[in-house]
Amino acid sequence: MIKIGIITASDKGSQGLREDLSSGVIREKTAEIGEVLKYLMVPDEKEALIGAMRDCMEAGVELLLTTGGTGFSKRDVTPEATLAVVERLTPGISEAMRAASMKITNRAMLSRAVAGITGNTLIVNLPGSPKACAECLDVILPALPHGLEILKGEAVECAR
Ligand code: MTE
Repeated sequence: MIKIGIITASDKGSQGLREDLSSGVIREKTAEIGEVLKYLMVPDEKEALIGAMRDCMEAGVELLLTTGGTGFSKRDVTPEATLAVVERLTPGISEAMRAASMKITNRAMLSRAVAGITGNTLIVNLPGSPKACAECLDVILPALPHGLEILKGEAVECAR
């Protein structure tokens, strides 16, 4: 089972003014491949997000899924926090999400989501809405276990 962390970036959610439905969607969608070790809700602030990401990594999280804060609002800084933490980018993951999502809504291009690796942890930004989270996870989840096996050195053979 993959050790999963979820970070919800939401000013309103962190003040108790909005129910966090997106983390529930992430839990449901990932239940077959992993267990959620850490769940954190933080305001849309870069330092708070970086701290939450480090907490998850220290807890041994292998797949860290963030939701929210990827858009154009001046408060949206999840990609910038992620870029401050990751050592190597994994652009194919965000490209795949946006490409598939563009078939559903052209607003998919408005997500600035990034993904990358630091140590043994893969961090993937998802958009904020529960619907967008579900749509993006449907695209990436089938491929992620293989990527994480390679990251851990448990799979070296990619041929199918
Ligand atoms: N991606 C998918 N699959 N489905 C969606 O409905 N919404 C878009 C985009 N990505 C959407 C999506 C919209 S409307 C915005 S503004 C951006 O994600 C950024 O969302 P965020 O700021 O909540 O992260």
